Amino acid sequence: HPEAVQDDTQTGVRRRDFIEIAAVSFAGIGGIAVLFPLISQMAPSADVLAESTTELDISAIQPGQSVKAVFRKQPVFVRNLLPAEIAEAAAVDVSSLRDPQTLAERTKEGKENWLITMGVCTHLGCVPLGAGEGENKGEFGGYFCPCHGSHYDTAARIRKGPAPTNLLVPEYEFTSDTTVQIG
Ligand code: FES
Repeated sequence: HPEAVQDDTQTGVRRRDFIEIAAVSFAGIGGIAVLFPLISQMAPSADVLAESTTELDISAIQPGQSVKAVFRKQPVFVRNLLPAEIAEAAAVDVSSLRDPQTLAERTKEGKENWLITMGVCTHLGCVPLGAGEGENKGEFGGYFCPCHGSHYDTAARIRKGPAPTNLLVPEYEFTSDTTVQIG
């Protein structure tokens, strides 16, 4: 009977569609479950970015030390520069820099030894290594990004490698001689 054959074919097609749709949905849910933690880490919500501040006690950070803290779910470097490092940064011909900025422009007046920058490479967002840390070559005494080899100097200014700009200086203020509020 011609009608019966047609019915069977239609049922067959419908069954295949259902199986394909189910498989796609399952993959989609799996993909979301795997991706979500990565996305939530990389892109903090707008509220977190707009509102949070971080209060840091900087009393234990010795001259010559750079510590990594967290600000708005991203690394931030707080560095207590040695007088020699301040002199080195000040001696650089600013006009020769890719992103020309003096150390004074990147720090607060009277507190030029405190360099506070985001610990996020301006190339593709890796976390650069501090002086003497890991495979940091220390060519400019500052930070080295292991991902594609960007070198930042003691004022965290880009000197070599693919990063387009200096490490970013976030908003911050000293709330006392030993505390700083970032954000
Ligand atoms: Fe730092 Fe590419 S992410 S050099």
